[in-house]
Amino acid sequence: MQPRNPNRRDFIKGAASLAAITALPLNSVELAFADPAKNFTFAYISDAHIQHIKGSRFVRNWDRGLIRAVAEANMLQPRPDFVMFGGDLAQLGSKAELDHGAEMLAKLDVKTHCLLGEHDYYLDLGEYWSELYGPHFYSFDHKGVHFVVLNSILTYDDWTFHRWPTAEQRMLEMAALDNPNGSPFLVGDAQRAWLAKDLEGISRSTPIVVFSHSPIQKIYKGWNFWTDDAEQVQALLQPFGDVTVIYGHVHQIQYNQIGNISFHAVMATAWPWPYPQSYAQAESHLPKLTVPMNRADPFFERDATGWQFINMNTGRVAMTYSLNNNTDRTVAYNPITGRPEDTEYQQPESRISPQIHY
Ligand SMILES: [Fe+2]
Ligand SMILES: [Fe+2]
Repeated sequence: MQPRNPNRRDFIKGAASLAAITALPLNSVELAFADPAKNFTFAYISDAHIQHIKGSRFVRNWDRGLIRAVAEANMLQPRPDFVMFGGDLAQLGSKAELDHGAEMLAKLDVKTHCLLGEHDYYLDLGEYWSELYGPHFYSFDHKGVHFVVLNSILTYDDWTFHRWPTAEQRMLEMAALDNPNGSPFLVGDAQRAWLAKDLEGISRSTPIVVFSHSPIQKIYKGWNFWTDDAEQVQALLQPFGDVTVIYGHVHQIQYNQIGNISFHAVMATAWPWPYPQSYAQAESHLPKLTVPMNRADPFFERDATGWQFINMNTGRVAMTYSLNNNTDRTVAYNPITGRPEDTEYQQPESRISPQIHY
């Protein structure tokens, strides 16, 4: 694969096409390069949490979030080259939930890539998920960009294989947000060795985009907004000039810069999580760069869910968050400071005060 040199001057995206997409509850990504024939878009949908009640009944609100995202993706113009689903398709990993979610995702009329969330994995360790979607980690090249898909929600063998009397209990323990019985996420030795080999043949100037479920950084261990071997994964990515990690799991806007790596979270179609720092008693390491969403109505079921429009015309992500019940935000890479910044709210004096929960 030949590396491409994206150039901002060659990026062509009309205001009309952006306006046409801004009502959509999903994450759309547009890449544009010096050669317009190489331009492409893809859509990003994450954290649907399809939840089985019994028989043929599922939690209707989570169904509706995913159905809406799929329907809007099918109407996107320009047509996305593919759709990425960012994990947590199911709530408790059952065949019924995965089948029901897969049935909805199958209505996408473009190629779909998927990755594993912990809610998909810890019942049968991803066995049934693999029957639907294939390998747990992989990479692919698309029009000059190297995409890496990680399974970042593994954990220590003792916890996975010996701690729990049943697979159902293991799933329930990992599904709980604030649970002292939980175990930190890992990419793990085997997958890091695979990643090192995968990156061997890639030019250092090729844009790299990594999709993971958990953040490949350490934000708040109590809620597993955390990957225990994050620094070792980051070390494999640091030699490349343009690296972006896009992750789900946290159900909220977060962004950060560590060395050459920009980090961006995507929102969920199901529900928003609060920010860990909004709980005064909890120590967290929400990246200092991140200006949290100021939620207008935390009891509105769609507040702080939404989608992102992303362009990578410079090889770096500029992400416009379209929030369903809140003010749109744009976080763009600033080449002067070398980090992503909120174009409106990054300066402390221009921020709206966050809500505090006790
Ligand atoms: Fe999730
Ligand atoms: Fe998750």
